[in-house]
Amino acid sequence: MSIPDVTELTLEEKASLTSGASFWYTKPVERAGVPAIMVTDGPHGLRKQREGGDHLGIGDSVPATCFPPAVGLGSSWDVDLVHRVGEALGAETSIEKVAVLLGPGINIKRSPLCGRNFEYLSEDPIVSGVLGAAIVKGIQSRGVGTSLKHFAANNQEHDRMRASSDVDPRPLREIYLRGFQRVVEDAQPWTVMCSYNRINGVYASEDPWLLTQVLRDEWGFEGLVVSDWGAVNERVPGLAAGMDLEMPSSNGATDAQIVAAVQDGSLDEQVLDVAAGRVLDLVRKATEGAGAVEGPLDVDAHHALAREAAGRSIVLLKNEGGILPLATDAKIAVIGEFAEKPRYQGAGSSMINPTRLDNALDEIRALATGEVAYARGFSNALQVSADETQTLRDEAVAAASGADVAVVFLGLPARLESEGYDRNDIDLPAEQRELLDAVLAANTNTVVVLSNGGVVALPFADRVPAILEAWLLGQAGGGATADVLFGEVNPSAKLTETIPVRLEDSPAFLDFPGEFSHVRYGEGLFVGYRWYDARRMQVAFPFGHGLSYTTFSYADAAATVNADGDIEVTVAVTNTGARAGREVVQVYTSLPAGKVQRPVRELKAFASVALEPGQTRDVTLTVRRKDLAYWDIRVDGWLVEGGEYVVDVAASSRDIRSSVSVEVAGDEFTLPLSRTSSIGEAMAHPVAGPIVQAAIAQMMGGMEGVEAVMPEGVDATKMLESFPIGRVGMFAQGDSAGAVNPEMIDGLIATANAPQQ
Ligand code: BGC
Repeated sequence: MSIPDVTELTLEEKASLTSGASFWYTKPVERAGVPAIMVTDGPHGLRKQREGGDHLGIGDSVPATCFPPAVGLGSSWDVDLVHRVGEALGAETSIEKVAVLLGPGINIKRSPLCGRNFEYLSEDPIVSGVLGAAIVKGIQSRGVGTSLKHFAANNQEHDRMRASSDVDPRPLREIYLRGFQRVVEDAQPWTVMCSYNRINGVYASEDPWLLTQVLRDEWGFEGLVVSDWGAVNERVPGLAAGMDLEMPSSNGATDAQIVAAVQDGSLDEQVLDVAAGRVLDLVRKATEGAGAVEGPLDVDAHHALAREAAGRSIVLLKNEGGILPLATDAKIAVIGEFAEKPRYQGAGSSMINPTRLDNALDEIRALATGEVAYARGFSNALQVSADETQTLRDEAVAAASGADVAVVFLGLPARLESEGYDRNDIDLPAEQRELLDAVLAANTNTVVVLSNGGVVALPFADRVPAILEAWLLGQAGGGATADVLFGEVNPSAKLTETIPVRLEDSPAFLDFPGEFSHVRYGEGLFVGYRWYDARRMQVAFPFGHGLSYTTFSYADAAATVNADGDIEVTVAVTNTGARAGREVVQVYTSLPAGKVQRPVRELKAFASVALEPGQTRDVTLTVRRKDLAYWDIRVDGWLVEGGEYVVDVAASSRDIRSSVSVEVAGDEFTLPLSRTSSIGEAMAHPVAGPIVQAAIAQMMGGMEGVEAVMPEGVDATKMLESFPIGRVGMFAQGDSAGAVNPEMIDGLIATANAPQQ
């Protein structure tokens, strides 16, 4: 079946294509042979609802593999693994005849309080962009599409359908858009989903700057823009801004508005042709890709992949005295309700109906050869009596006292984090902290396993010998946790977000979630580790941190600039322990003598490297020149500042193993001179500089002459530096008054700005 060209459709048919038929389907145009296609959530599994539709994860959906949500999978820092999970997601989407899987979500984790952080990859744009591109490529390799979401600056749930994210250009470009740009440029997602919120006052769903200028003209996006479900404010301006497909259905209301606008001349029909044409392109791709993977789904194989991915998602935060891995014959007390009833995904539109569900308790029992006792420890129910709390705690203490080791599962109850609202604090419930204290008093050999989608404060970190940050791990997380506890899997995940000591320390603390539907991104560029490093703050566990059951050493790194201007970094990494393992090697850069404000160091590249015991590998990482660029508000563009960059090769943002310097040539640019340019800028200008120097020499005998007429001790150069050249004339006295007139200044500006030979 061939999909017609947009010119073959009537005005009404074209308008009908620009909004959904129902919750999950686009509209067909039967007369012209255009079928409806199905799109559905997303992102860490397929949520194909059997009937009806809702975006809250309420209605029943067909069973699908629930892979680890982004908070877990991202912690692997492993492009290949993420790509493989993407392929599996794409296969399930294809088997179920769905055209587009609504994900990945790659918004920056600006505050630990965001209720949807479990669905996002990182506080860093390079991690978000590189891993986001890997997921998109994996999914799309199976003939189905993705929807990169939520575009853009949607970093909180509170008031998400109205709030304006008020962000300055530099953080917007360098932090909040950079990951989206990377995924669009590297992976061309079939669709991009615009977010609910406003950005600097303009709804994302009707922002021509965002949806057309940046996304298409600058980044070269070739696909379709779909609205988040219900994100449309005014449909006609939205269409003109580049918002092609409104979802879900408007019951024809907005289609009629579009038809009316074309008829009364307020909307150019060509704008509609472009949007409808993009819907047709999407339908064409979906039709061509359909049937790429035939069912039935290999449930076992995908469950095994989900287990592998979950094992790679668990971060070993701490392991004092090598308490982990556990001996299989140890006498173990498993404590905490999460061991039996796992929290394996977050609430909201991403809730998958899993094909099966492991729990850690059963899986620990399956691998253990010794005795495994279990005590619930606490209850996640809303109402729990003091008596019940005490009984559960006493049982736990009794189990811990008689065991070689206590493994305590703590975490956030499901109601505390969800799409649609944010958290108020980052604390674990008090009953859980008290339970842990009681267990520790009975047995210091205690391991904590955390289940949480957003980071939690760890006030007990100094008192517990081992902590596993097990996030939300998807349907096979129970088995994966057992694998890591017993060393069947050597942990290799690392934090893609900082764990702060206190919520009050976090960058957005004073500007979250805003008020009166405005949230000011007051921390600017200093998001996540960029903030803690700039302020030299103590953190509980730094960005990039994660331990292994083996150890790694790094040799001295080398760095060179290649012909494309990218920095090639090479470092030999050795597994110095007795177990096979993986190390996530990280490269950060800084420009100590830079002239613009910059974070202390910023991640630019990373690699996950597998090493056998004793094995050494040369790891090569590329820092792309374009990733060195900052957004310059004077030229409204990217600029690479020249100078000596420090390249840090690191095991975490606070564990630098080797540093090298490399000279990078800056982008050539000269700012045009104007009357508001300062004397300092004019002096530094290649053409105007010598003229100004000569004029000063002629009139005053050089800077010494200027000094001479200044009061004693005044630094004349500093004083004059920021003086606008357009205003010099009014201060010129005596002989120089006639020489420094407006015509002379304009002449200087014209000479400076004239095209150079
Ligand atoms: C969410 C999207 C989701 C959509 C459809 C919205 O509420 O923000 O991420 O894809 O619903 O369920």
